[in-house]
Amino acid sequence: LWTPAQIIEDQIARVREQVGDRHVLLGLSGGVDSSVVAALLHKAIGDQLACVFVDNGLLRKAEGEQVMETFARHMGVKVIRVNAEPLFLSKLEGEADPEAKRKIIGNTFIEVFDEEASKIEGVDFLAQGTIYPDVIESAAAKTGKAHVIKSHHNVGGLPETMKLTLVEPLRELFKDEVRKLGVELGLPYDMVYRHPFPGPGLGVRILGEVKKEYADILREADAIFIEELHKADWYHKTSQAFAVFLPVRSVGVVGDARRYEWVIALRAVETIDFMTARWAHLPYELLETVSNRIINEITGVSRVTYDVSSKPPATIEWE
Ligand code: XMP
Repeated sequence: LWTPAQIIEDQIARVREQVGDRHVLLGLSGGVDSSVVAALLHKAIGDQLACVFVDNGLLRKAEGEQVMETFARHMGVKVIRVNAEPLFLSKLEGEADPEAKRKIIGNTFIEVFDEEASKIEGVDFLAQGTIYPDVIESAAAKTGKAHVIKSHHNVGGLPETMKLTLVEPLRELFKDEVRKLGVELGLPYDMVYRHPFPGPGLGVRILGEVKKEYADILREADAIFIEELHKADWYHKTSQAFAVFLPVRSVGVVGDARRYEWVIALRAVETIDFMTARWAHLPYELLETVSNRIINEITGVSRVTYDVSSKPPATIEWE
């Protein structure tokens, strides 16, 4: 039987064998898979690993800082942080179609990553957090939105111009095994056991056109929701929970004045496989606290709703 420690040891040996004294590039997203690859490769080859973290402006609150804190500061991993928010937002301007938005975000990621990669000299390998289900998924039908993005970020192959060999140390592992490796490698528990976050990020949680104003509001609302879920000990009882920005104006009364402001929807689900899901029966008191905080603390939001739709037919994400 394999233990996480043995898998790590085995993978370290394999990576050293494959890479020798050459250099490896990794796209670090802050998600579990790429984080575990970063920790593993750092342990295996130290300074021969360079990571690129692309901030697309569609990340959760403080996500970029957390990535830099964990990897750059604590572990001493070489991480290049690229602030690509203005580029992503300008490319998304005027686009309201969900699949078109996904494509723009995926393609822009590749463009930015490619450009950063070309600035780093002497790189021969590209590391990826491909896990076993990704391999299966991309071998199967080439449909489904999750696949489209995964194909950009993971198994779909490299941009033509990048002549790099792949390093994929998690290719044979399932998610729960990857998490155990992460803990064994010393990554923070909260990072390793975080809810999944889609590649296009807040881009598909802002319905229709993406704007910085919307993303900023959504980030705050989402952070309040997640913070209260943790406080109430409900975070780990849900499989995925997040806020959604609805670009509609709903009326609110402040003093004698009527104000038309944005609406935030809360979504929390319980699921095993993410193919079907039940909306989480969160306590009313928790929903009340979250709603009050969002409305009181965030300018521009006057109404909060809770999504009570199960999948199918309602997908987990709203787009
Ligand atoms: P749905 O909304 O299809 O989501 O019920 C199922 C799971 O997939 C995630 N998801 C995505 N992940 N790129 C991703 O990397 C995407 O475009 C995408 N769309 C949905 C979703 O967050 C949920 O965990």
